[in-house]
Amino acid sequence: GQPITIDDYDAWHGRLPAFPADTLRAGAGVPLTSGSETVGVLGLAYNGGSTRTFGEAEVELLNRFAALASIALDNARLFAMSQEARALAEAANVSKSQFLASVSHELRTPLTSILGFTRIVKKRLEERIVPLVSAADAKTERTLQQVESNLSIILMEGQRLTALINDLLDLEKIEAGKVEWHMEPLQIADVVDQAANGTAALFEEKKLSLVRAVPRDLGVCGDRDRLVQVLVNLFSNAVKFTAEGAITVRAWQEPGQVVVSVADPGIGISEADQQQLFEKFIQVGNTLTGKPKGTGLGLAISREIVTHHGGRIWVESEPGVGSTFSFALPTRKEPENDGKSA
Ligand SMILES: Nc1ncnc2c1ncn2[C@@H]1O[C@H](COP(=O)(O)OP(=O)(O)O)[C@@H](O)[C@H]1O
Ligand SMILES: [Mg+2]
Repeated sequence: GQPITIDDYDAWHGRLPAFPADTLRAGAGVPLTSGSETVGVLGLAYNGGSTRTFGEAEVELLNRFAALASIALDNARLFAMSQEARALAEAANVSKSQFLASVSHELRTPLTSILGFTRIVKKRLEERIVPLVSAADAKTERTLQQVESNLSIILMEGQRLTALINDLLDLEKIEAGKVEWHMEPLQIADVVDQAANGTAALFEEKKLSLVRAVPRDLGVCGDRDRLVQVLVNLFSNAVKFTAEGAITVRAWQEPGQVVVSVADPGIGISEADQQQLFEKFIQVGNTLTGKPKGTGLGLAISREIVTHHGGRIWVESEPGVGSTFSFALPTRKEPENDGKSA
């Protein structure tokens, strides 16, 4: 690990096999390091006719070269390592995508038949068997009701599983940049209307109303179906977590961006939970009291979509008072029609 100078190579005890006696006269060497290891020697050798020795000046020069060479070596090593890591990550990503795609397919096939047969069994039970049981036989009637409600749970959970698989594939497609984005000039009001129509049944079911405060002339550039998907998710969340009252959708222009917000007077979300809502598979609140009703992927997908538009999405909420989910989209954005996400 120390620099050496050799004045008489033939007399030196450390002669290298590659250079036997009589090939060199004098030499000097300094260690070459990479990281904290010595990986080699940088040397000068002289084999001319006259006697020549190396002194401090040459060692100093060698040291400087060695320092530069060490940096270059480190860089090369780091670069090779990062290339390798990157290649590994890319390969892992590809196999993750393929794995997900085939697992989803394998899951969906039996799921379709489970759901199909459950529907048939439920229908037969209701149409053929229930009428046969007389109201007098209270015990059998109660059992039948239980069976019917069990079948309903199978159906609901089966549908939830189907939604989960679909959402998972969707998210994976967006993340892998495999989604084709159809960016076009859009009116926010149209997007809101389309999402409201798509979720009208949900509002009706829970007797909730939707108040719209969306001016007609707010334009953005975006993918219509994907932005509708974001709003459908925000609407259905608002409905899901609200018992009564009205849900309000607003939109307005700000410098350089259009903001859309969906406010509900529902259960609200604690400060701590707000931080993780947009992560995958997060369903917050008390998981002990209620069965999870969704997939926990809706907001993660929404965030991917909004981010792809160059915008952002956030939440403001107070437990027991309500929640407001908002997203902002830049007004002037060059269309990205290359079909790849960043
Ligand atoms: N409007 C809301 N009010 C209260 N909690 C909400 C609201 N929207 C979302 N959340 C919480 O965020 C979680 C994640 O939402 P999301 O990603 O859409 O998944 P999912 O709707 O499938 O549960 C929900 O499970 C819920 O706990
Ligand atoms: Mg949701």
